[in-house]
Amino acid sequence: MSSSGSDTSTTRLYAENWLGPIDLRPCYQHEAPLEIDVGCGKGRFLLARSAAFPDTNFLGIDRMLRRIRKVDRKLIRRSQENVRLLRMEAYYAVSYLIPPTCVSTYYIFFPDPWPKKKHASHRLFDVPFMDAMCRTMKPDAMLHFATDHQPYFQEVHTLLQKDKRFTEAPPFMPTEDERTDFELIFTGKPIGRCSFKFLL
Ligand SMILES: C[S@@+](CC[C@H](N)C(=O)[O-])C[C@H]1O[C@@H](n2cnc3c(N)ncnc32)[C@H](O)[C@@H]1O
Repeated sequence: MSSSGSDTSTTRLYAENWLGPIDLRPCYQHEAPLEIDVGCGKGRFLLARSAAFPDTNFLGIDRMLRRIRKVDRKLIRRSQENVRLLRMEAYYAVSYLIPPTCVSTYYIFFPDPWPKKKHASHRLFDVPFMDAMCRTMKPDAMLHFATDHQPYFQEVHTLLQKDKRFTEAPPFMPTEDERTDFELIFTGKPIGRCSFKFLL
């Protein structure tokens, strides 16, 4: 896990503690609602959102080290203390490392669509991933999803609509600053957005 701001050292996960839930509280300066950006990429959304909500704690997860480093450098320059970064496979992190019942919001924006049919099983969002998120979500927590890939959008939207643990809410609309790096690339393409509230 990468720490930012004035403490430029890195909070490392050692063998004895990367097999179970991480105590996230000491990673942040203040206790506050926790929001997770899954596959945060180069962090345009995470940086804008966390700057706009300094009283919320954010965690960006991405498996690509280069992208995590890029976001970390920007956070250090801004001395922003309410964001931490985890370079890890998101399914593993959400299944095992995020403590139970602690997440207020998940953002899953433009996850890799794996457009070829034979690769669809590589998609992150499926029922086991939903189960993993549900373990970590607080009652009334929100899940926001967006993609430009319509088949993936339909799949996720249908999964969430059918799941009695969730109820649909108006879709999250980013501000101009919060539009993600990938969203900017796909300007002009229709974007599927949906948001759901966790009921349990
Ligand atoms: C298409 S990019 C979108 C990035 C960002 N959300 C945006 O909209 O600009 C997908 C990101 O998710 C990351 N990613 C894909 N699968 C992942 C996984 N299983 N675990 C963690 N990160 C993943 C990739 O490294 C990449 O940075």
